[in-house]
Amino acid sequence: MALSSPLAPFVWKPAYSVQIRSMDAQHAELIRIVHDLQQAMAGGRAKDVLHSILERLAAYTRDHFAAEERLLRQHAYPNFDSHKAEHDRLVATVAAYVSGHQSGRIALSVEVLGFLKSWLEKHILGLDKQYGAYLSSRGVS
Ligand SMILES: [Fe+2]
Repeated sequence: MALSSPLAPFVWKPAYSVQIRSMDAQHAELIRIVHDLQQAMAGGRAKDVLHSILERLAAYTRDHFAAEERLLRQHAYPNFDSHKAEHDRLVATVAAYVSGHQSGRIALSVEVLGFLKSWLEKHILGLDKQYGAYLSSRGVS
C-alpha cells in the first residue's frame, strides 16, 4: 500500500486495522493528534498551540505504547523486544522534538510532520499488524 504524502489529510481507515479493537481505537486517536498538528501548522497557528499539540502527542504516544506493550507481554508475544525497541526510538525522537521546539532549536516543518506520519503508518501496517495476526490467532480481539 502506498504511504500517504506529508500534506495529505491523515485519517484512520479500516486498512490500518490490527484486528484488536482497543489498539485500533488508540491508533485512531494518535492519528487524530498528528492530524490536529498538521491542521494547526497549515493554519499558521501560534507556537504555543503547536507546542501543546506536540506535548499531547508525546504523552499519548507514551500511554499508547505502554498499553500495547502490556498487551503483548500478557500474551508472551515472541517479537516483543524488537517491537519495544522501535517504540523506544520513537518516544526518544518525539521527546527531542518537544524539547527542541520549546527551546526554538527545532521548527515544526513538513519534514517533521512527514516523518511522524510515515513512521506511524509504517509501524501500524508493519509491526502492529504482525502482533494483530498473532493475537487474533489466539482469540484476542
Ligand atoms: Fe506498536
